[in-house]
Amino acid sequence: MSPPPTPVDGIDLALYGVGVRFGGLVALDDVSLRVPPGRIVGVIGPNGAGKTTLFNVVCGFVPPTSGSLTLDGRPFRPRPHRLTRLGIARTLQGVGLFPGLTVLENVVAGASHAARAGFATALFGLPRSDRDERRLRREALDLLAELGVAAHAGAAPATLPYAVRKRVALARALIARPRLLLLDEPAGGLGADDVAELAELVRTLPERAGGACSVMLVEHHMDLVMSVCQELVVLDFGRVIAAGTPDEVRDDPVVTEAYLGADVPAEAAGAGS
Ligand SMILES: Nc1ncnc2c1ncn2[C@@H]1O[C@H](COP(=O)(O)OP(=O)(O)O)[C@@H](O)[C@H]1O
Ligand SMILES: [Mg+2]
Repeated sequence: MSPPPTPVDGIDLALYGVGVRFGGLVALDDVSLRVPPGRIVGVIGPNGAGKTTLFNVVCGFVPPTSGSLTLDGRPFRPRPHRLTRLGIARTLQGVGLFPGLTVLENVVAGASHAARAGFATALFGLPRSDRDERRLRREALDLLAELGVAAHAGAAPATLPYAVRKRVALARALIARPRLLLLDEPAGGLGADDVAELAELVRTLPERAGGACSVMLVEHHMDLVMSVCQELVVLDFGRVIAAGTPDEVRDDPVVTEAYLGADVPAEAAGAGS
């Protein structure tokens, strides 16, 4: 009998009155939201609403001009290179795999401190303990199998279809066993079947790793967000115009208006900026 999984607490992320200005342009204005432990929170909004800017604030790529963030109730100043250590993993809007590494090596490279060794090993052939090496490779292969792309383990990313590369990028984020996973437009560029499979996958993320992984899903694709998120925050012109459960948000006329007024209908999916 296998031992019960070790419980892992999800991270409690909160933003308070966050604002971002790019010169005269207000990209985010007084944005407050919370991603409680083990919850899947979606951030949606039409193109240009500020979704990616918000994502970049949480990752530390864009410093907020005003407001503050907390992680588990403590002040949080995000720095991109410190995220993994804090138990935070992300996937970017593009795919961003290392082109010189195989799929398997890319995933191995996603494992926190072992990750750096993995990357160095892959690049320079530096020795690492055989046991670590084997364990990480097995974990990476398991993840690839779970995501249905193990057959591509030895392939170079550039030779693979976009949807496969997106899964590899997700495996690379998951191998670090994040307590908070940040996804920026994971459905972008995917066809309807792939989006449906992605939805199923994201829904199972919190229970993975035997504990509560929180997810912040930034996504233009309304259907995906509605079907996987427990809570939604709707941005328009940098402001929160609605927040609540998918049902509450769906019926909110303010949201319909924001999406109808936008250049791309919500269903057009994939093509979000
Ligand atoms: N680095 C930047 N410099 C200047 N303006 C930016 C920058 N990044 C985003 N913006 C602007 O901020 C607004 C929000 O953009 P973004 O966060 O990418 O929206 P979304 O992801 O919801 O489509 C847009 O008007 C965009 O043009
Ligand atoms: Mg965006």
